Amino acid sequence: MTVNRPGAGLHRMLPRMSDAHSSNDPHQHNPWLTGDRDRGAAYDRRFERLAESGHAVHGEADLVAGLGPRSVLDAGCGTGRVAVELARRGIEVVGVDLDPAMLARARERAPLLDWVEGDLAELSLGRTFDAVVLAGNVMVFLTEGSEARVLARLAAHLRPGGPLVCGFSLTADGLDLATYDDLAARADLELVERWGTWERAPFLPGASYAVSLHRRAKAPPGDQERGNA
Ligand SMILES: C[S@@+](CC[C@H](N)C(=O)[O-])C[C@H]1O[C@@H](n2cnc3c(N)ncnc32)[C@H](O)[C@@H]1O
Repeated sequence: MTVNRPGAGLHRMLPRMSDAHSSNDPHQHNPWLTGDRDRGAAYDRRFERLAESGHAVHGEADLVAGLGPRSVLDAGCGTGRVAVELARRGIEVVGVDLDPAMLARARERAPLLDWVEGDLAELSLGRTFDAVVLAGNVMVFLTEGSEARVLARLAAHLRPGGPLVCGFSLTADGLDLATYDDLAARADLELVERWGTWERAPFLPGASYAVSLHRRAKAPPGDQERGNA
């Protein structure tokens, strides 16, 4: 569905969280939506404080922009922290997120960018991108059991050979890298490089964070999104 609202950018909505109220709601156990975390402007404040104290806060955008994409899908874009910076650097971005509160902030920050409210597991934008990024632990905030489907849908939105870059924390009871690589392989995504930080520090055994770069190997038959890519 595509909705144009006066005075704002293009707002697109896939089947979304705020429409789902029944006990069949697949996201009633989504760890992000059900958790007690800062959202919207409160989420951004942590990064604003870091920037004010002189910390570099655009490691994700630096890494992705360094790959030279003309278009980027920011998957689980939240408040648009990464997408807005990529757009500022002249890259065409589309941000997709499940959480209306996070997207409201993104739209406030950058009304003219393309923000899509929807579930990555059901993503179907009808086009591909030069690169896909999942920043800020999106993989560990997915609804449990949806990880394979999300990676398959993201691969379908990636041009063949295009990079999918994803960073998440490694915890004892969380998603591990062997599982992540296996899910990625099933989505025809090949591991190319892995770092310990978005600034490309080496990935060392026992690290608590990993940034992985996979490339789409081939087009799954009949599964590539077509359109204006
Ligand atoms: C920690 S935030 C990261 C936001 C942003 N990428 C950043 O780095 O600032 C995790 C985001 O993942 C989103 N998310 C979780 N499951 C999702 C799903 N199935 N589809 C789309 N977004 C999802 C949440 O709504 C949340 O905004």
